[in-house]
Amino acid sequence: MAQRNSGSGADELKSQLNIVDVVGRVVPLKRAGSNYKGVCPFHSEKTPSFVVSDQKQIFTCFGCGATGDVIEFTKRYYNLDFIEACEKLGKEYGIEVDFSHSSTNKEKEEYYKINREAAAFFYKAFTEKANPGYSYMKRRGLEDGILKKFGIGYADKEWDSLYKHFKAKGVDEKILLELGLVSKSRDGKYYDKFRNRVMFPIINTSGRVIGFGGRRIDDNDNPKYLNSPENIVFQKKNNLYALNTTKQDIGKEGSAIIVEGYMDVISLYQHGVKNVVASLGTALTDNQAKLIKRYTPAVNLCYDSDTAGINAAIRGIDILVPRGLKVKVFHVTDGKDPDEFAKTHGRDAFMKLVKNAPGAIQYKLDFLKKGLDLNNDEDKLEYIKKASQVLKTLSPVEMDIYVRSLSEELKVSERAIFAEIKENASEGSARPAPVSREEGASAHELSSREANVISAMITNPDLTEMLFENFGIMETAFSRKIGYIMLELFGNNGTFGISDIADRLDPDESIALEKAVSGIKLAGREDEVLEESISKWKLEKLFEKEKNIVSRMDMADESGIDQESIETLTAELIEVQNEINKYGGR
Ligand code: GTP
Ligand code: MN
Repeated sequence: MAQRNSGSGADELKSQLNIVDVVGRVVPLKRAGSNYKGVCPFHSEKTPSFVVSDQKQIFTCFGCGATGDVIEFTKRYYNLDFIEACEKLGKEYGIEVDFSHSSTNKEKEEYYKINREAAAFFYKAFTEKANPGYSYMKRRGLEDGILKKFGIGYADKEWDSLYKHFKAKGVDEKILLELGLVSKSRDGKYYDKFRNRVMFPIINTSGRVIGFGGRRIDDNDNPKYLNSPENIVFQKKNNLYALNTTKQDIGKEGSAIIVEGYMDVISLYQHGVKNVVASLGTALTDNQAKLIKRYTPAVNLCYDSDTAGINAAIRGIDILVPRGLKVKVFHVTDGKDPDEFAKTHGRDAFMKLVKNAPGAIQYKLDFLKKGLDLNNDEDKLEYIKKASQVLKTLSPVEMDIYVRSLSEELKVSERAIFAEIKENASEGSARPAPVSREEGASAHELSSREANVISAMITNPDLTEMLFENFGIMETAFSRKIGYIMLELFGNNGTFGISDIADRLDPDESIALEKAVSGIKLAGREDEVLEESISKWKLEKLFEKEKNIVSRMDMADESGIDQESIETLTAELIEVQNEINKYGGR
């Protein structure tokens, strides 16, 4: 196999691969004019409408709209993230792909290894002889196959059996402390953090054990659930429990169900509801939204029906919807949580709840209506005001639909409601920006735009928050690394300087950073520069999108695809062109 000696990124990969070969390995393709055609692997169809272009190096399905380059295909076909897809292609075709910049990677591998070993230790204690953990899970009705599937283990009652196990192997105590597997008492003795608990290993989508949740068995122990602390391999905000196991089911089902607890996940799974994950803590985060979006465009939130659960659902909507996810929300109608419901009523009853669940907007409106008497004019007015807050974030078409139904429900004219929304629109945020796709490159170089953005944020760290919505503006692995570091520093300390960033980069990287930002003088115009950079970037993305649609239309023409698809594409094109105009692009 041809090995290349330099690290290469996505562009290198794309330049060396032919999408027709890569797709052709898994999807039988037939020549059709200047393109190739086959049955789409992303939706079920009988007549082929999946077209691969040798010339353009992209695929497009005119049935379901899936489209992209060879990396996108690999991501979707094998359910991988961008980096994983590049690594897979690189490995299979003998192209060296190097996305790792960080010297902490080696350190992380060490942590993963220790966690994996701890999971194996707990698993052994759970499976090899009678123990309270296994009895407890049996009492809760879980089957052996499921317990095995989720790698459930048991942390025994001794004070230091896990510690001794690692000590005998010469593992550094500092790492065990950091991973939260052991604690240190005042007199300097180490002891196991998890004792007499059922252990749920938390595994990321690359199959690495990143942490644990431990449930008490004895009601007198506190807390009920003990979780691993945050550390370099475990960040709750970046992970979803069980996604490693259920991502295929989520992809197949076309939707994910997010629940609160570990137990809810494995119990639902046992009852045949397999497209399920838990959010590892109460509030969903933007990173979790991005993570789930890799596997599905639709999310069903199912939290407990108590006040905490309802509030978490409302906050969850505000995180998920701006990411472009289609969201429905529901609570179980009997029992305290999904686990109890699934046990008593089974899969079909649960799926019926999912099916009948209201969409995010409807859920919010219903929530706002609670406790109000709509026959009372004051209450009615309050409701309209609050509802307007919700509706102002919608697209024109969505808004129209909800305004119409509100108008009918409340016997208030549509015009009056629109006026109320407009009144509201001036306060607070408008529609969030679309999220861009990831691109790859590897040199330690920053474009002048990236340098400007980073420089603005170093001068005024508060601006870092803009990255949450616009992270795609960081277009290379290097700039993204800097972006992540800034977000983390900002999150931890509320501020940072260039030296804080440099400290966390490799020496050659920090030189590259300092060089890139050294000549930039923003002189108090940071906000302005940043805003301008963002809108320029957005425009570029829109132009790219426009180009892509046009070439798909070409492909459709060339391969005799039905008129309907062309009409859909035309509609898409018009929409993009409208967006472009909105950003003052033409
Ligand atoms: P079971 O009682 O075992 O059925 O669990 P549950 O999932 O019904 O519990 P609950 O609704 O109380 O908690 C839901 C999720 O919140 C759990 O899976 C944990 O992730 C988290 N959680 C619950 N209790 C605690 C706690 O005491 N500490 C922490 N850190 N997390 C908790
Ligand atoms: Mn429960």
